[in-house]
Amino acid sequence: MSVDRYGVMGYPVTQSRSPMIHRLFAAQTGQEIQYELLQVSPDKLEQAVRQFQRTGGKGLNITVPHKTEVTRLVDHLSERASTAGAVNTLTFKEGEVHGDNTDGFGLLRDLVVNLEITLEGMKILVLGAGGATRGIIGPLLEMQPTSLIIANRTLGKAEALATHFSRSGPVSACRFNAVPVKEDYGLIINATSAGVRGQTPPYPGAAVSDQTICYDLSYGLTPTPFSVWAKEQGAAQSFMGWGMLVEQAAESFRIWRDVRPDTAEILARMTISA
Ligand code: ATR
Repeated sequence: MSVDRYGVMGYPVTQSRSPMIHRLFAAQTGQEIQYELLQVSPDKLEQAVRQFQRTGGKGLNITVPHKTEVTRLVDHLSERASTAGAVNTLTFKEGEVHGDNTDGFGLLRDLVVNLEITLEGMKILVLGAGGATRGIIGPLLEMQPTSLIIANRTLGKAEALATHFSRSGPVSACRFNAVPVKEDYGLIINATSAGVRGQTPPYPGAAVSDQTICYDLSYGLTPTPFSVWAKEQGAAQSFMGWGMLVEQAAESFRIWRDVRPDTAEILARMTISA
C-alpha cells in the first residue's frame, strides 16, 4: 500500500518548519506519512492544488500568501475557516476539498494550555490588522476578555475588522499612536508582518507594564524585533510563536490522522534545536 501524502504549499516556503514538525508527529504516533515542501507561486495555486488532489494527496497545509485565495477552491469550509476568512488546512476526501483553519486554535492552545494564561477578564491589545489578525480575533473573543483593541498603522483596516467581529465581543480599533495607554493590558500580541522585514514600527511602548505578557506570532532562532522591543519596554514576559506553530500543526495532524500528537514533547525538542 502506498504511503499517504501531505505537504505544505506556500511562496516562498523553503524556510518552513512544517515538514520537520509533521515528521516528528508521525514518528511519535507511529503513523506512516510522507510530507512534502511545495513552493507554488500565486498564479499556479489552483493548478498545484488540483494536481496534488488528482495524484492521490490526502491533505495540505496552506501558508503565506495563499491562505485567503485558497478558500475559492474549497467545497466545504469549516466555521472557524469561514470566520477567519482564511484556510491553512486542506483535506481531500471522496473527491471533495475540505478547508479548515487551525491558526486561532493553535494560538489559544499555546496561550491557555502551554503558557497557562487566563484570558477571561483580561485587556488584550492586538497590533496589526492583516490576515493573521483576522484569524485570531474570533477565538480570542470566545475567551471573554474585558476588551480587545486592534491597533494598526492603517486605521481603516483595524476598523473593518472591529466592525466584522463586533457581535462576538468588546472589540475596538485605533492607530498605534492612539492606543489608550492607561489601561492594564494583560496581553499584547504582535500580528504585524513588520518583524519579518526586520522592522520595528512605532508600537505603543507606554501600553506595556510589568504586568503585560507580550506574544509575537512570528518566531525565529534569535529574538524577533518585537520580542526585543517588548523586553526593552519592561514586559513581564515575552514569547515568540513557536508554540502556536506546533499547536496549529498538531490540530492539522489530528484532522488528517484522527490522532492528537503530544505537543509538549515536540516543543521541548524544538526549543533544544533552537
Ligand atoms: P498577514 O497575513 O501576515 O497578516 P498582511 O495581511 O499583509 O499580512 O498584514 C500585514 C500587517 O502588518 C498589517 O497590519 C500591516 O499594517 P498596514 O495595514 O498598515 O499595512 C502590518 N505591517 C507590516 N509592516 C509594517 C510596518 N513596517 N509598520 C507597521 N505595520 C506594518
